[in-house]
Amino acid sequence: MKRKKVSIVGAGNVGATVAQLAASKNIADIVLLDVVEGVPQGKALDMQEAAPVVGFDVSVIGSNDYQDTAGSDMIVVTAGGARKPGMTREELAENNSKVLLSVLDKAMPLSPEAFLLVVTNPVDTMSYVAYKHLGWPRNRIMGLGGLLDSSRFQTFLAMELKVAVQDVSALVIGGHGDEMVPLLDSCSVGGVPAEKLLGRETLLRLAERTRRGGEEIVNRLKSGSAFYAPGASIARMIEAAVLDQHRIFSVSTYLDGEFGQKDIFMSVPCVIGGGGVERILNVDLEPEEKTALDHSAASIRKVIRGLGY
Ligand code: LAC
Repeated sequence: MKRKKVSIVGAGNVGATVAQLAASKNIADIVLLDVVEGVPQGKALDMQEAAPVVGFDVSVIGSNDYQDTAGSDMIVVTAGGARKPGMTREELAENNSKVLLSVLDKAMPLSPEAFLLVVTNPVDTMSYVAYKHLGWPRNRIMGLGGLLDSSRFQTFLAMELKVAVQDVSALVIGGHGDEMVPLLDSCSVGGVPAEKLLGRETLLRLAERTRRGGEEIVNRLKSGSAFYAPGASIARMIEAAVLDQHRIFSVSTYLDGEFGQKDIFMSVPCVIGGGGVERILNVDLEPEEKTALDHSAASIRKVIRGLGY
């Protein structure tokens, strides 16, 4: 079987972290592309030189030329500006949508069969822009969001309970913004409902920290935003699709009535495998959660409309 190929557009902190993780796990040959000359080449060669020690044998190539991405199975777009302290993800929309569209126009004709994973913020809006621009079936386009937010929520739950994070299960849905929806009732620890161990108040506090998770990192870093946890989440999504794993992750996907939402991208639990977004696990939410999801959707729609859609 031919080895898979994944191209990552944007060799900043997020793109480079994804490349390193995906290569280290031997998932696919990697092309790391950026407009800045030398940077993708230097980072890629540095990663490749780790192969003998880490023990992977995929290739990592850095490039400024989209021709090198031709025939990719997956294109990951991380290009675009990141938040600075005091900024929301939504304030990036206008500039980043231009960056995204120019990347799509260059990359997609060369990889007509690829899946697209959008990372550029505000990610739900950017995924929607890509979907409208490309006219592809929805299973081929997904955005980062819920998996990262769920990972943050699981981390905070494990820290609070002082238990192994592997035993913590939690799900965050909705937009990847301040109005994301951590589902409190589905948090569990080794099968035990987390609320029974922590109480509602504590769960609410951890959910709020999760909603502000990206901002907490931006405020500490002062320049740039998070990249280790985002990178890890992206690498997992790549792995699930490219290796046909049928994993269940909360990812930003086009909703056509599921969860009561239409014509919008937001994170909901999906089966990710060789068919991309193979299935949406559409379930009824508690009334309070449904209201919160509707709020989150309204925020995303505002940004989408602001871009003229
Ligand atoms: C964050 C950015 C990636 O949540 O949106 O850290």
